[in-house]
Amino acid sequence: MKLIIINGPNLNLLGKREPEIYGSKTFESYFEDLQSKFPSLELSYYQSNIEGEIIDKLHEVGFDYDGIILNAGAYTHTSVGIGDAVKGIETPVVELHISNVHSREEFRHTSYIAANAKGVLFGFGLKGYDLAIQSFLN
Ligand code: DQA
Repeated sequence: MKLIIINGPNLNLLGKREPEIYGSKTFESYFEDLQSKFPSLELSYYQSNIEGEIIDKLHEVGFDYDGIILNAGAYTHTSVGIGDAVKGIETPVVELHISNVHSREEFRHTSYIAANAKGVLFGFGLKGYDLAIQSFLN
């Protein structure tokens, strides 16, 4: 099974960025934990701070992979383009947020992705990525 985690803007700063919200572990280190936990999966990871690059990656993997775990960061709340890309591809997408976006500012309550996602996970910290992977397993 081929799964990809796509992280959007500012998520390259995990470990340093607002650790009281996002924790103190880097994503690279957490990704190694995931690879060890799910050795039979073809698991890949992509991060970009650029909206168009995230759209390009969704197009590239979206007719071939078995699942996409997408944390589009702040673009979740603003990007019609990423929302349209999720709608236009065939691979199911799980929308994910590390923090509980519904307990934060009002603007974080809107998602341009959720309506076309297979499901949405938020508020479980980095563990959400593990739960999202499990949602693709039988
Ligand atoms: C986030 C929540 C977004 O509102 C925020 O802009 C992020 C991270 C999360 O993982 O909790 O960058 O997607």
